[in-house]
Amino acid sequence: MKVLIATEKPFAAAAVDGIKAELESAGHDVILLEKYTDKAQLLDAVKDADAMIVRSDKISADVLDVANNMKIIVRAGAGYDSIDTEFAKQKNIVVENTPGQNANAVAELVFGMLVFAVRSFYNGKSGTELKGKKLGILAFGNVGRNVARIATGFGMDVYAYDAYCSKEAIENGGAKAVDSSDDLFKLCDVVSLHIPATAETKGSINYDVVSMMKKGAVLVNTARKEIVDEDGLLKLMSEREDIKYVSDIKPDKDAEFAKFEGRYFSTPKKMGAQTAEANTNAGIAAARQINAFFATGDTKFQVNK
Ligand code: 3PG
Repeated sequence: MKVLIATEKPFAAAAVDGIKAELESAGHDVILLEKYTDKAQLLDAVKDADAMIVRSDKISADVLDVANNMKIIVRAGAGYDSIDTEFAKQKNIVVENTPGQNANAVAELVFGMLVFAVRSFYNGKSGTELKGKKLGILAFGNVGRNVARIATGFGMDVYAYDAYCSKEAIENGGAKAVDSSDDLFKLCDVVSLHIPATAETKGSINYDVVSMMKKGAVLVNTARKEIVDEDGLLKLMSEREDIKYVSDIKPDKDAEFAKFEGRYFSTPKKMGAQTAEANTNAGIAAARQINAFFATGDTKFQVNK
């Protein structure tokens, strides 16, 4: 089978070697399309591919429409909001993700950005410490759990809310469960967002929600830009000079956020999962899932059933 690795944001070289070795060991041919700059390159490459590994690459209906041999697409990562899963289903294309494989990398970046924020963006002025502060984790999936684990090492008081996770599971993961997302925003000094971008969550981190945060609070977003109502957050930040926002996803209104000097930071390109380890874990998991699919029809990680 022809397996296309289509990554506009490439994996680390060692990860690509590992992915290739895994696929080739099962007799597949690997085609590599990295750092493509034009959608036409992707449209051309998918035409005769039987399978594909992607990252946040936008796999919209027009891409799927020309992918006439495609049987399986594996998103090497967690969020699959960049793939038109419904249209893929209509075309009988299995879409899978690799849950948990890059979660530690994202969780470590939460703390990289958080220390930067509470230490006044390293501008030389006195900041604050994380020890003893209340951290709220919104959604207790693979990333949320890793954030809880690392926060404990910092001596933070860790809380979490997840509409789809029992209080018992949250407490077993080392956090105190609160009754609602609002409670998390009211109680905590820092809130770290780990909800996926869905119809329900898009724009849900809005003016009213962030307004509930305590004086001097920090909002950390390593999830998706779409979950934040940017106009609402901009309005709040202009009214409240104490609120800080650090994001691993450049907002659409980055230039407007950038006016809040010393209270806003965004990475130039989403880099939560940009580590050799995360690339290798997620990439090799994706390759193994493709091998299992062609060998036995395994669809354990399918997200578009
Ligand atoms: C994910 O959903 O797995 C993360 O956001 C990482 O995305 P990336 O592969 O585009 O870096």
